[in-house]
Amino acid sequence: MNVLFVASECAPFVKTGGLADVIGAVPKALKAHDVSVRVLIPAYTALKPHLKAGKKMLAFDALFGGPAQVIAVQAEGLDLLLLDAPHLYDRPGSPYLGTDGQDWPDNDLRFAALAFAGAQVGRNGVKGWQPDVINVHDWQAGLVPAYLQQSDAAAPPVITTIHNIAFQGVYDASHLETLHLKKTQFTSEGIEYWGHISFLKAGLALADKITTVSPTYAAELLTPDFGMGMDGLLRARQGDLSGILNGIDLDAWNPATDTRLPAVYSARSLKGKATNKAAVEKRFGLKTGPGPLFCVISRLTEQKGLDLLLECLPHLTGAGGRLAVLGTGDPSLERAFMKAGSDFSGAVGTIIGYDEDLSHLLQGGSDAILIPSRFEPCGLTQLYGLRYGTLPVVARTGGLADTVIDANEAALTAGNCATGFQHPPGDATMLGHAIGRACTLFRQHPKTWAGMMRRAMAHPVGWDTSAAAYLGVYRAALTG
Ligand code: ADP
Ligand code: GLC
Repeated sequence: MNVLFVASECAPFVKTGGLADVIGAVPKALKAHDVSVRVLIPAYTALKPHLKAGKKMLAFDALFGGPAQVIAVQAEGLDLLLLDAPHLYDRPGSPYLGTDGQDWPDNDLRFAALAFAGAQVGRNGVKGWQPDVINVHDWQAGLVPAYLQQSDAAAPPVITTIHNIAFQGVYDASHLETLHLKKTQFTSEGIEYWGHISFLKAGLALADKITTVSPTYAAELLTPDFGMGMDGLLRARQGDLSGILNGIDLDAWNPATDTRLPAVYSARSLKGKATNKAAVEKRFGLKTGPGPLFCVISRLTEQKGLDLLLECLPHLTGAGGRLAVLGTGDPSLERAFMKAGSDFSGAVGTIIGYDEDLSHLLQGGSDAILIPSRFEPCGLTQLYGLRYGTLPVVARTGGLADTVIDANEAALTAGNCATGFQHPPGDATMLGHAIGRACTLFRQHPKTWAGMMRRAMAHPVGWDTSAAAYLGVYRAALTG
């Protein structure tokens, strides 16, 4: 089977979060099921060096304001289709933001162009390769089925995957014409969303099937609290919605071979972790201590609940714990964590920035990773934590609830099947309680902690089962 992915990020080429990791990993996992995936992504500035080695597949004289072409490139085990449209993508900054931290003012055109090209490749294929299905990811690719709908020509079925419903690509209805959308499509069954255009709404209303990235998030999305205005539509489409848990790239994230770690280690020999821990302490200016070394590796946003963690710092440090924070995002949270670094000098260390190498070091050298999200479609850092024996302390929501087994009395006595700690989301007191439980277990029951590390490291976090589930959805879409 041939599958076209349309997405705005793909690791290791361009990444702002977990979406990139997933887009970079699923195609490799699907290969084992005889599925050939091509990934259509914008040729941002970072991808330009790859264009030279590529083959031209398709050209547009004018794509939303300038000439564009689709270039096929093979790199890092992936088949990429790069949408080269310099007027839209060749600029400094991130895929979504300028260097001033603001959304690019033409993001609607930039991602409409991606979807337009996606629809074209989806329908007509590229030299010798014709997709059987199209899997579009998040709002940036949401308009693909809207553009396909504009022609009577046969087209492959579309599967829309929701990685985060908080981002909906909402624009003023006056943009209809510049986005090459038809007035007849501007209905509540199509792209209209409370009087505006929503790219994500289009992707959900017009797709043949919908997936999201964990079973619990699939259920949560049907409720007003989590559905963020799309819950009614999703309830109506419940029969077409499924939750498929994310996995991780087991080669890129392997403590036994990770070249970014000062010392490699495995469940059989955990010794190297102490060497890595010393490196983390040095890097973050932390003193040694009797409690666990916690880490955070995260976007600093409302979603991630890290404001709640700030409230818990006296408790965390009072219990002998230490904290290393790596993150970037909301300026007020950045400032607050920098301040915590000086208020709790030696016990809390903060590095503001995005640093892939350092994220590996933190996973390899910390005892536990904190993920107190208010909502979390899947979450990947708890999966990396499991694989690295860095016990996740997580809010019981979305994919966090589906992947971490809480060290409660029942789990600890029943042969200790626990792999981490859970707490109810959105509540600093409950987060503090979970941090307290982790500190007590670490200090008073080191053997139990070591057992949990080994169990966590054995927890299946690869893509095998989930790749098969994606294939099942593609087959179901094909048979209608
Ligand atoms: P989300 O996609 O909502 O940000 P995920 O947990 O799914 O959350 O994925 C986040 C990804 O981004 C992980 O691979 C994580 O290691 C990485 N990441 C987040 N913040 C940073 C950072 N400051 N530096 C390096 N990697 C980061
Ligand atoms: C989103 C979600 C995150 C998920 C990732 C990859 O960014 O916030 O929970 O793991 O997408 O699917």
